[in-house]
Amino acid sequence: MNNEKLLEVNNLKMYHVIRKGLFGGKFYVKAVDNIDLTLDKGEALAIIGESGSGKTTLGKTILRLYEPLDGKIIFEGWDVTHIKGKELKKYRRWTGFVQQDPYGALPPFMSIKQILEEPLKIHKIGNKEERIERIHRVLEEVRLTPVEDFINKYPHMLSGGQQQRVVIARSIITDPKLIIADEPVSMLDASVRIEVLRLLRDIQKKHNIGIIYISHDLSTTKYFSNRIHIMYAGKIVEGGPSKEVIHNPQHPYTKYLINALPDPDPNNRFVKRNVPPGEPPSLVNPPSGCRFNPRCPLSIKGLCDVKEPGYTYISERHFVKCWYYEKGG
Ligand SMILES: Nc1ncnc2c1ncn2[C@@H]1O[C@H](COP(=O)(O)OP(=O)(O)O)[C@@H](O)[C@H]1O
Ligand SMILES: [Mg+2]
Repeated sequence: MNNEKLLEVNNLKMYHVIRKGLFGGKFYVKAVDNIDLTLDKGEALAIIGESGSGKTTLGKTILRLYEPLDGKIIFEGWDVTHIKGKELKKYRRWTGFVQQDPYGALPPFMSIKQILEEPLKIHKIGNKEERIERIHRVLEEVRLTPVEDFINKYPHMLSGGQQQRVVIARSIITDPKLIIADEPVSMLDASVRIEVLRLLRDIQKKHNIGIIYISHDLSTTKYFSNRIHIMYAGKIVEGGPSKEVIHNPQHPYTKYLINALPDPDPNNRFVKRNVPPGEPPSLVNPPSGCRFNPRCPLSIKGLCDVKEPGYTYISERHFVKCWYYEKGG
């Protein structure tokens, strides 16, 4: 890895708008709220958070499948935050998306060959021969071999794991520099999950692709990441090198995820749990201050429920956003 910066996200915001009833008001789901992150060329960053914390919204906003409300997305020094038309098309070429549901991501009436050829046509890559060559090459890379057995099949003829391999093949066929893999194995049979994760990791390393790996499952990051960010209710609450975050978690929420925090309920003291008490907040009306404060055993009244914490650095690259540390622990 050469520490050249691939992606820089500053203060990114994306709110979903929902309308209630015919004459009802407009509500905002504050799914991505002031998020900062960076990714080096060829680096793997994992974003971990429970369901509904805004991970997919973040991924899709970075890929410009959603329009950001505020903030900046800089890709190789190029401001892509509000690009449109031809510019956006160019950005699509350099980015790839692997979604949770492979079957939903593949057009059912196209053969594997047509599916893989489409992005090459859209981006005018190669002539007919070169395209076929590329299709063969990516199918070999995702180990759908012998290629002849797969190339003329349709998505429904493949297993979930094979379908996800096609999605991965499609995501790399334009030689992207950034891939966002959003829960890429959570809908696959448990028996093939690790294999598909390893495959994605191998391909990413071989081609020096920067990847953002999104998951609700912290345990799968060991196959993946150089760094981890922990997401809670539309915010990143902690981030750093994977080993540091896993072995020395700081934020109370991360500690729950890693099973390192005792339960505040005395009846549960000896029962280790990896979910904090209570429910995740509504993102329409999130708690003021730190969004974790209503569930946090360390919450300081009059501070955590009032003002949002800033960054506290535990080591050079390991940060936490928590008043407990900002106040000196
Ligand atoms: N298209 C949408 N319209 C309205 N609300 C949405 C939409 N997509 C997601 N949300 C809401 O935004 C929040 C974050 O969702 P999402 O980004 O899918 O989180 P995650 O991927 O972490 O499960 C949730 O409250 C979800 O209900
Ligand atoms: Mg999601």
